Amino acid sequence: MALKPVTSPDIEAPTIRLTIDGQQVEAKQGVSLYDVISQTGKIIPAMCYHYTFDPFGSCGMCLVMVEGKKAPVRSCTAKAEAGMQVRCEGEDLFLARKKAVEKHLTIHPLDCPVCDADGHCELQDMAFQHGVTNLVNAKPKGLPEDRRSLVLDFNMNRCILCGECINICKDVQMVDALQFFKKEGTTHVVAKGDKGLVCEFCGDCLAVCPVGAITNKYSKYVYKPWQLKKTTSTCAYCADGCQMSIETSGKDVQRVTSPLSWKNKWGDRAETAEGHGGFQYIDSKERLGMPLVRTDEGFAPRSWFEAMDTVVGRLKAIKAQHGPNAIAGLITARCTNEELYLFQKLMRAAIGTNQVDSSARYGHLNFTRALQHAAGVGRMMNGYEEITKANVLLLIGTDITETNPVASLRVKEAIRVYGAQAIVATSRLTNIAKLASHPLPIAAGSERWFIQALVKAAVEEDLVDEAATTAAPEAFGALKAAVAGLSWEILTARTWTPREAVVEAVRLYAEAPKAVILCAEGVTRQVDGYAGVLNLVDLAWVTGKLTRPGCGVNALPEEANEQGAVDMGVASELLPGQALYADEDARAKFATAWRCSLPPPDPGATLMEILKRCREGRIKALYLVGENPLATLPASTGVREALEKVELLLCQDPFLTETGRLAHVVLPATTFAEKDGTFTNLEGKVNRVRPALEPYEEARPDWEIFAALGTVLGHPMEYEAAQDVQREIMKLLPGYYNLGEPRPVTARPEGYLRDDYVREVAARYAAGAEADQAARPFALTIGQVLYHSGKLSTRAPGLLQLYPSKGRLQMNPEDLAQLQLGPQDAVRVTSAQGAVELRTEPNHDLARGTCFFPEHFNEPPIKDLAECVVDPTTSVPAFKFIRVAIEKL
Ligand code: SF4
Ligand code: SF4
Ligand code: SF4
Ligand code: FES
Repeated sequence: MALKPVTSPDIEAPTIRLTIDGQQVEAKQGVSLYDVISQTGKIIPAMCYHYTFDPFGSCGMCLVMVEGKKAPVRSCTAKAEAGMQVRCEGEDLFLARKKAVEKHLTIHPLDCPVCDADGHCELQDMAFQHGVTNLVNAKPKGLPEDRRSLVLDFNMNRCILCGECINICKDVQMVDALQFFKKEGTTHVVAKGDKGLVCEFCGDCLAVCPVGAITNKYSKYVYKPWQLKKTTSTCAYCADGCQMSIETSGKDVQRVTSPLSWKNKWGDRAETAEGHGGFQYIDSKERLGMPLVRTDEGFAPRSWFEAMDTVVGRLKAIKAQHGPNAIAGLITARCTNEELYLFQKLMRAAIGTNQVDSSARYGHLNFTRALQHAAGVGRMMNGYEEITKANVLLLIGTDITETNPVASLRVKEAIRVYGAQAIVATSRLTNIAKLASHPLPIAAGSERWFIQALVKAAVEEDLVDEAATTAAPEAFGALKAAVAGLSWEILTARTWTPREAVVEAVRLYAEAPKAVILCAEGVTRQVDGYAGVLNLVDLAWVTGKLTRPGCGVNALPEEANEQGAVDMGVASELLPGQALYADEDARAKFATAWRCSLPPPDPGATLMEILKRCREGRIKALYLVGENPLATLPASTGVREALEKVELLLCQDPFLTETGRLAHVVLPATTFAEKDGTFTNLEGKVNRVRPALEPYEEARPDWEIFAALGTVLGHPMEYEAAQDVQREIMKLLPGYYNLGEPRPVTARPEGYLRDDYVREVAARYAAGAEADQAARPFALTIGQVLYHSGKLSTRAPGLLQLYPSKGRLQMNPEDLAQLQLGPQDAVRVTSAQGAVELRTEPNHDLARGTCFFPEHFNEPPIKDLAECVVDPTTSVPAFKFIRVAIEKL
């Protein structure tokens, strides 16, 4: 695809001068004339133009006069040339544009009263601006609506054939799901192959369609765009931190839109991937509207006053009788920064215990702690901009298009616009692997071995950076010795990847000027995830990519605010600002600020230890905020026993979850759409969350509940608004709300390489014992799929239609054939922990010997097949990779 230098600042082209309406301007030669004009501040009519892809030139609206040409020219497809004299205004141009509008309207239905785009339609605006009143011989196409897709309806009567939907899907999303197709005597936009649309359902085609030709099946005929209240907020699905608009009428969310739309078609190409955007769970009928207190007859609704009285009475009694360490708290990283901060303050300052943890413990802490330890950085090293501009991207253990759709657009942009090479090492042929220059299928669960193979190959092939390794000769010597002990035979057997492929990949990575590593659950949520991140640091260090600008090591967090949870110190080993809880000075600082004495360090009091202490009867009260450990953790962890053992199980959640059903008191919390506050995205950028709706019935934002509890428990936490909490955080962590800046992040590995490295490195390259694969030959992974995020999205009917709970085990078709199985055949899946029975589903993208089950559903309870291995350094529990045997029933 040709590039537009104006919006791709890195593209080289000579600078030229031309004149726009008498004004001299400079531009790069060969760029779209429309771009040059819009950079002078003039916005001339345009319907088929969008800054995210190259001009298409179909609508005929962007007409200008160029000296020397007799007729008006389409400025979007015209190229800027030196000395051009361009005129953008005048009666002749007005009439020519008016004619173009009339041409569109002659075959257009006058559906405006019932059209979803009414009041938000570019064609309507153009007709109005050009005074199009009388249409003689209008002949609407009279086509039936194409309703074959599960989510989007296509009304080709309204289509102006601008191609924006097709172009954005092809060029930006790189999905290429749509095409023009001639049938019924006219041109239609259809899903490729003229069938029902099955795609990533990103919504970009709907967002950019300048008219009402593509509509959302779920909100059609329900609203008029101008009747909706629009609130800009931050998406709570993943950690990408997308800005979006929640559009509401009364108490209902009608639709969620992104800033990427035809209303926002004049942008910077470098921001193409920004702001893409079912939030049906927000107004789900299953929401909790009142506090619930368990009685002999079951749950009874209670007023807040009564419920809080019960909670406070029991907490005080437990603390008085057993001490503060009889109480512990766990919170979801889907809460705002302000809530996360207040929660740990409540537990530490008001209750007096350090037994506090968040869902960042499920993996992200492996990354932040390892990177802090090795390089003094506690978050992703590279922002979106650096990902986009990398020459080589190394993706390991991530299905990025499914888990972080917008971060994946950055990767796609790097490949498509900037020609980056991508090495994608996964056990599934993921969407991003299909676009990669170097897709590398590796055995499921072998990510760490694969990284070690890369390090070994870098050392053996002398792909090391001299400056980096000579600055730390002892560390390098220790690394060389460590990798020498690993045999290629073992590495190849474990990763299923031959040495040559590993060498090719590491050569590409090592020789690139700007190389970025992106990993995710396949590293951070696996056994020894902490060591896995350090293996990646080794790779970056020896190849000179740890401290070089534009390079770095990154792990994608799963939940919306995992980075915030770590930054706010919701972990027994951390204080806000990622200060170490064991550091006396840091503790003294917070004790002074909070006017309390802080409990002594108890770094081991993490999620799994807290559950163990519950089982042992040492913890009597467990406060769960948005966490549903019963649905998340495998049965082998004894989670049910822990929850059933405590005297007070307090659950705070928008829904009554599996865990909530065991609770003694349930407090109704709001969703992010009813909250004020901030999320920290994966780049470390703090984004605002704004309330689009009043709280559902009696539900309250989590921060309000924490503040009320703290105050009643005797530690005044009198905040009137989330901003009051923000002010407190700002005082304690100056600059936190700018954390996205400064970029680039500077890694400082010198101390680590000098002090701890030699002592630690051998252990993380030890071959270890091989799991017995003969008895259980299949590798089962439990992971995310695009349309779901955690368990919340399974309450959204639209998302459930897109990806329903099928209870099927996805397997490679050749494996199915070998076991004489067909689609939907019943099988028994047996692990060391037990067996479940379910049906099969072929999936060509899975490597042989591997199978997959989406983690959002637990029907049948497949997660209970997992054994849980706790990381020796970070206590992160790993349970998403299971060795199983499969037999036909
Ligand atoms: S697309 Fe625009 S002009 Fe056409 S019916 Fe809808 S609102 Fe009216
Ligand atoms: S929803 Fe996204 S992926 Fe699907 S057709 Fe539209 S632009 Fe393409
Ligand atoms: S469906 Fe919309 S975006 Fe696609 S070609 Fe038609 S008018 Fe343009
Ligand atoms: S914007 Fe130029 S032809 Fe449509």
